[in-house]
Amino acid sequence: MSEKNIIGKILYTQEDITKRAKEIAKQIDKDYEGEELILLGTLKGSIPWFTDILKYITNDARIDFITASSYGSSMTSSGIVKITYEPTINMYNKHVLVIEDIIDTGNTLKYLKAKLAERGPKSVKVCSMLNKESRRVADLHAEYVGFEVDDLFVIGYGLDYDQRFRGLPYISYLEAEDVESL
Ligand code: IMP
Ligand code: MG
Repeated sequence: MSEKNIIGKILYTQEDITKRAKEIAKQIDKDYEGEELILLGTLKGSIPWFTDILKYITNDARIDFITASSYGSSMTSSGIVKITYEPTINMYNKHVLVIEDIIDTGNTLKYLKAKLAERGPKSVKVCSMLNKESRRVADLHAEYVGFEVDDLFVIGYGLDYDQRFRGLPYISYLEAEDVESL
């Protein structure tokens, strides 16, 4: 199958995403006014969304990153999560806002939040570009969500399939019926 045929329709354009990121950034500014905030990006998928939020908030914020790998197939996470890059910033008594690309089962973030809580932050909340509510397994709630998406395998704007398509300047999905055979 050619690459052209495996990328579906555009779900959200750059313009849609920018507009939504600005709305959420405004809300974050309001909610954390006068507080010390750390934006913690999850590598690698959150990079474009992370830079949008960072750019559009006007309050000062410190930044750091974390990498969590979830074992399972390339399409679904297993719930067994391993942190492969640890943030170095001191989170003690600071507000942490995890910037995520997508919440699917919620297993990854549930584990991450529990690990981050061990560092004694003042709060740990979540800002995810996308949310697949229908797929949720873990008891996990995101305080800020860019867009709700159906049960599709979405790609672009940081989201990958097997490390591909992260650079698309829009959010789309994999068209192929049997994506595991790509
Ligand atoms: P969860 O632990 O099931 O919530 O999965 C979270 C992680 O799985 C996300 O941070 C993504 O890296 C990946 N993921 C889940 N759904 C998709 C998708 O539709 N496209 C690309 N990556 C996804
Ligand atoms: Mg991923």
